[in-house]
Amino acid sequence: MTEQPAPYGAPAADAAPARKRVRIHHLRDMKARGEKWAMLTAYDMYTAAIFDDAGIPVLLVGDSASNNVFGNESSLPVTVDELIPLVRAVSRSSRRALVVADLPFGSYQGSPEQCFHTAVRFMKEGNAHAVKLEGAATMAPQVELLTRAGIPVMAHIGFTPQAEHNLGGYRIQGRGDDAGRLMADAKALEAAGAFAVLMEMIPGDVAAGITQALAAPTIGIGAGNGCDAQVLVWQDMAGLRTGKLPRFVKQYANVHGVLRQAAQDYAADVTAGTFPGPEHSF
Ligand code: KIV
Repeated sequence: MTEQPAPYGAPAADAAPARKRVRIHHLRDMKARGEKWAMLTAYDMYTAAIFDDAGIPVLLVGDSASNNVFGNESSLPVTVDELIPLVRAVSRSSRRALVVADLPFGSYQGSPEQCFHTAVRFMKEGNAHAVKLEGAATMAPQVELLTRAGIPVMAHIGFTPQAEHNLGGYRIQGRGDDAGRLMADAKALEAAGAFAVLMEMIPGDVAAGITQALAAPTIGIGAGNGCDAQVLVWQDMAGLRTGKLPRFVKQYANVHGVLRQAAQDYAADVTAGTFPGPEHSF
């Protein structure tokens, strides 16, 4: 019998041996040891497997899927039903990373009970290991109920994209007197049980102060170098997205260019009649 290639998604022959799953206490231990770590978004099987294999300890299935997968202009339209299959794909395809599911706009702000029911769907149907929610100290009751119920919660403060219209657009938060409010929010969310606090678009010195004040790890995006961890949307980090990028993005590759070239080369081969060749034909 001729040998068949492994089905799509099967571990490659040279895949690293299975490693222990990252747990929330590992992240706290890393903070205590002063070890920084990187988090990335992932929304599908291949990127989850690649980032997991690269050693990224935390993968976020962000509601940024709204813009980066579904083509919406903001994170507001994406729904729980749209995100759950993406979370399931990412958790199925990662062997080590802690998979965090972002609760979308409108699915948790109403009450702690609404938040609980949404989070349970992500844990049961998506196999998430934790959830993330946006908001200030007013979200502490949500965080408290989920934590009591055994669901780890990552809090997201500073610029919170779901509140874009209330915040007057994409603006830096926590400048001047507002820094004290952010510190109070971070402490209240940690006291409610948040295992980590993500801080978006706030001054670096404010983020560094919050990082020092909390035992829980902080994760920055546009929050300077004084956080315990950093997160980027993978399409920004790998250069799939083009055009004007936020100042906090650094591009580590040009995936857009590579894919475009591959598509052009393939189309040229088809047009010239050189693909498929005899080696691709039965
Ligand atoms: O949804 C998302 O991608 C986020 C970012 C801050 C990473 O929340």
